Amino acid sequence: MAGAITRTVEGVIDWFNQRTPGLIPAYKKHMSEYYAPKNFNIWYYFGSLAMLVLINQLVTGIWLTMFYKPSAAEAFASVEYIMREVQRGWLIRYMHSTGASAFFIVVYLHMFRGLIYGSYQKPRELVWILGMLIFLALMAEAFMGYVLPWGQMSYWGAQVIINLFSAIPEYGGALTEWIRGDYLISDATLNRFFALHVVAMPMVILLLVVLHLGALHEVGSNNPDGVDIKKVKDERGIPADGIPFHPYYTVKDMFGASFFLVIVAFILFYAPTFGDLFLEYDNFLPADPLVTPTHIKPVWYFTPFYAMLRAVPDKLFGVIVMFAAVGILFLVPWLDRSPVRSIRFRGWITKMLVALFVVAFVSLGWLGMQSGSELQTLLARIFTFFYFAFFATMPLWSRLDPTKPVPARVTSHD
Ligand code: HEM
Repeated sequence: MAGAITRTVEGVIDWFNQRTPGLIPAYKKHMSEYYAPKNFNIWYYFGSLAMLVLINQLVTGIWLTMFYKPSAAEAFASVEYIMREVQRGWLIRYMHSTGASAFFIVVYLHMFRGLIYGSYQKPRELVWILGMLIFLALMAEAFMGYVLPWGQMSYWGAQVIINLFSAIPEYGGALTEWIRGDYLISDATLNRFFALHVVAMPMVILLLVVLHLGALHEVGSNNPDGVDIKKVKDERGIPADGIPFHPYYTVKDMFGASFFLVIVAFILFYAPTFGDLFLEYDNFLPADPLVTPTHIKPVWYFTPFYAMLRAVPDKLFGVIVMFAAVGILFLVPWLDRSPVRSIRFRGWITKMLVALFVVAFVSLGWLGMQSGSELQTLLARIFTFFYFAFFATMPLWSRLDPTKPVPARVTSHD
């Protein structure tokens, strides 16, 4: 009996392999014969976690779409219906809204890992660029998603952000009208944001993720030591410090995912709105074009950039600064001139500046949520200046920083 089952299963596998000759080589290239450095640490969980959260967003998003009504007259009530009447609707909604914040936490940590281990340096520039395009797409996706519940903050947040484009000389007015599809934020705006949020952007993000991983697997993963593992190979031509991604890292990533899911479950069940951070109080009130909320602010993951926008007195220049803050990240592979990848073998200059950079970015995030007093504006200006100075002077300090010799092999082999 067992023999018959094995023969049948093998027969089915053979049948597929003969008709899809690319499948086995692809599996080998990306899984069983993808040799990843054996010294991955906790920072290397965030790539697979980002994929996990992406899948969560897609699945919960599909379920929300089954009950959500994309119209200005019905959107808010349909979300309330999901929360109160649909079975487990509250769970699906919170998985999606808390999931959005989890996505940004994971992606910010993932990017920071790239920064401290120099993962964007040659030959991984394209991996970084594709990552940055994902980041841009993710920001657009999150912004449009936030508009859909048609709460007060959805409406007024969209109002503020879309109005930014009106600062563009000459074409600003026409451009904002084109984005809104109307003279003011309306049903037309909600409808197009729904189409983009549910269909167009998810496809773009998925495509970019495939390209991101394709580009990474072409050149191979970096690691916490920044050592090129392809330099030392064994007699079979396999990197001496490499281990097959499957089963070693599939199992390790499953452990990381389990740990992550426990933490997320606690947040989901005990603090889904995380105070006012993940879903704001004002968004539990229906959109009212006649009543402006006292304090309009975006969700936490946008506040560092929002603080930079507000730090600049001139509207157009503020918009330029805000976009430049994201844009400059694209250039990091060419701004960093250090001969060494990982922060482990860099000197005190890099360590100190990276620490200050974290302080500046987190502080900007906090400042972006505040009302913007005089002192807060001053601090935002100082941190914005530091943010740009960090990158603009990188070619200089990354070269001047004293480095330690990089070993030929990863440091954690026995
Ligand atoms: C949906 C969002 C994203 C997903 C699903 C994703 C997925 C992944 C995965 C699975 C890996 C390999 C595992 C790992 O090294 O952690 C990886 C590596 C990498 N990602 Fe992403 N990523 C995303 C966004 C980004 C962003 C926004 C950036 C930065 C701009 C970025 C930059 C990188 C870099 C530089 C590597 C190579 C790291 C190394 O080898 O040390 N990724 N990504």
